[in-house]
Amino acid sequence: MDGLADLLERLLTAEEWRVLRRAGDVADLHGVELYLVGGTVRDLLLGKAPADLDLTGVGVDEGFACVLADGLGGRVVSRSQFVTAHVRANGVLIDLAMARRERYEQPGALPTVSPAKTVEEDLRRRDFSINAMGVALSRRRWGLLADPLRGLDDLERRRIRVLHEQSFVDDATRIFRAVRYSVRMGFALEEDTLGLLKGRLRFIETIGGERVWNELERVFMERRAVAMLRMAKELGVLAAVLPALALPSGALGTLPSPSKSPDARAKRLLALVAWPVLPVRMSALRKRLHLSRKMARVVEDAAAVKELLSALRARDLRPSRLHGRLEGLDAEAIRAAAIACGEPAAAHYLEYYLSELRGVETLLRGGDLIELGVPEGPRVGEALRELLAARLDGLVATREDEERFVMRKFHPHLDPPPSRGRM
Ligand code: CTP
Repeated sequence: MDGLADLLERLLTAEEWRVLRRAGDVADLHGVELYLVGGTVRDLLLGKAPADLDLTGVGVDEGFACVLADGLGGRVVSRSQFVTAHVRANGVLIDLAMARRERYEQPGALPTVSPAKTVEEDLRRRDFSINAMGVALSRRRWGLLADPLRGLDDLERRRIRVLHEQSFVDDATRIFRAVRYSVRMGFALEEDTLGLLKGRLRFIETIGGERVWNELERVFMERRAVAMLRMAKELGVLAAVLPALALPSGALGTLPSPSKSPDARAKRLLALVAWPVLPVRMSALRKRLHLSRKMARVVEDAAAVKELLSALRARDLRPSRLHGRLEGLDAEAIRAAAIACGEPAAAHYLEYYLSELRGVETLLRGGDLIELGVPEGPRVGEALRELLAARLDGLVATREDEERFVMRKFHPHLDPPPSRGRM
C-alpha cells in the first residue's frame, strides 16, 4: 500500500496532525525514529479516528519526553516504567514509549525490557499482527507503513493472529484481548491462533488478580461486552479464571452506559458473571479478581440476594418485608439477581423493590415525631420504622396521614394537631 499520509490527514484532527508533524521533526533533529504504533495504526487503517495516539521511538532515552514536550511547546504529564511518558501539547495527548524488545522469563511475569534497535523488533514483541504495524513520522518517510508481520493482510482478511506460538504463554492477558478484538471488530480468530488459545487457557492462572480484573473491566466497558463475555464463556476463558463463572443465558436487558455510568455497568456485569459461584465461592472470586472494596461489596450483596430467594418465593410478601430484606444492598447487585435468578416470581419482587420501594422515606422526620409527643430516644427510631412500613404498605400517603398514624400509635385518644399550612 502507499503511505498513509492521506489517512493521517483525513482521520486526525487538524491539531493532532500538526502536533505529530512537529513531533516527527523534533525526533529527526534528535536522531530518534518516531512511529505511530499499535491500536492507533490499526484504527487508522480501519478508517476510524484513533482513540489514543501511541508513539514509539527508536533511540528514545529518558530525556526524550522532555525534549519532545519542549519542541511541541507542551509538557510531560506523566512518566512510568520502560521509558514511557504522556506528553500534552495544544490539547493533544501523546503516549510515548521507547521502542523495545521484551523477554519473558516465565509465563505471566512482566517481561524484561531492553531498547530495540529497529521498529521491527518493537513490533515483533506485540500481541497480534493487526496491532503490530507502525507509521513513520519522520519528514522523509512521513506516513510510510512498517508492516513486517503482515498485519494489513490480516486486517483485510478480518482475522486476529498471534505472532508466535508462545504469545499466550508469555502473556495470557492476550487471551482476553483476542476475544475483545474479535467481537469488537467482528474478526475471526485465525485457525492456529484459536488452537493456541484453547490450548493455553491454563496460563490464565499465571496472571495476577489485578491484571485479570483489568482485562475483565476492559471487556465490561466495551459496547459489545455481553457478546464478548459469551464468547469468553464458550471458549472456556471465564472458567479458566474461576470454574463456573458464566453469564446467564437469555436476555440481560439494557446495561448502564459505559460512558455515563461505568461503575454501575461494571457492577452489573460482575454480579451477573459471578452469580453461578455465589455464595460458596465468593471469597475465592474476591481474591482471584483482586476486587476493590466497592466491587467486593457488589458480589457480597448479590450473594445476599441469592440467599434470600427462598423467602422471595412466598406469595403476597408485604412491601415492608421486602424492603426490610433488601434495603441497603447495592441496586446493581439486586438487578443482576433479578436477571440471573431464573425465578419469575422472585425477579418480579426484586424489580418491584427497585422501581417502587427503594429509597422510600417517611415525610415526617425524627423532630416532627418529638413535636407530636413521641418521647426522645429509641422510641423515635422505632416509630420512624413503623411509619416507614406503613408508607411502604400503602397505609399512609400524605403528611397528615403520617401524623394521624403516629398519633393513633402513641396517643390513641388524641386528635392530630391541626395542619401547619405546609405545602
Ligand atoms: N500490547 C501487546 N500485548 C499486550 C498489551 C498490549 O502487545 N498484552 C501492544 C499492542 O500492540 C497494542 C499496544 O500494545 O496495540 C497498546 O496496548 P493497548 O493500549 O492495551 O491496546 P490498543 O491496541 O490501544 O487497544 P484498545 O483499542 O483496546 O485500546
